[in-house]
Amino acid sequence: MQLQEVQNSNELLEVVKLEKELFSNYVNFWSLDSFKEIVKNKDKYIFKILKKDNKVIGYIIFLIIDADTSELHKITISKDYQGQGLSKLLFNQVADDLQLKNIFKIILEVMIDNRAAISLYNSIGFKKIGSRKNYYKIIDNLDNIISKDALVMELKL
Ligand SMILES: CC(C)(COP(=O)(O)OP(=O)(O)OC[C@H]1O[C@@H](n2cnc3c(N)ncnc32)[C@H](O)[C@@H]1OP(=O)(O)O)[C@@H](O)C(=O)NCCC(=O)NCCS
Repeated sequence: MQLQEVQNSNELLEVVKLEKELFSNYVNFWSLDSFKEIVKNKDKYIFKILKKDNKVIGYIIFLIIDADTSELHKITISKDYQGQGLSKLLFNQVADDLQLKNIFKIILEVMIDNRAAISLYNSIGFKKIGSRKNYYKIIDNLDNIISKDALVMELKL
């Protein structure tokens, strides 16, 4: 298992494939162009991928907001590898890098019924600090676009 930055366009395409698989019901899932922007802006974002047997199986993206705060934008593990503690491993390793950059606060938004993600964040130690009404736009089983609230959570490292 390797944790690394994106080094070539194939890796980026694998990230986009995972994004499509795991966020296909979100109206605004991220495109190849969104990920390219993140790769370009290395001073603003921390973007790491997790590889196993030369295949991308997960990724994590933080936006640096200010001197001591960052926002967790994405944490994703391929369905085949979920439930093995990999997201926590990914998070903890990158959180160590954040501390080295003197970042001691992480905030995030999560959809109110994303049970797996909320369990992960609770288990890491995030606390709920607020909510945002109708923050996410989701496509339901009947192809209707519906709104879902977000929880806002915070972790002090
Ligand atoms: C959320 C996600 C990253 C979790 O990844 P994972 O590697 O399966 O999670 P882990 O195995 O590291 O589990 C971490 C913790 O979350 C809990 N958890 C993970 N999935 C869970 C689920 N489906 N239901 C309940 N708890 C769950 C685990 O029990 C574990 O808690 P513990 O360490 O206290 O026992 C993964 O489900 C995913 O990629 N989901 C789709 C993308 C997404 O919604 N990302 C978050 C928003 S950006």
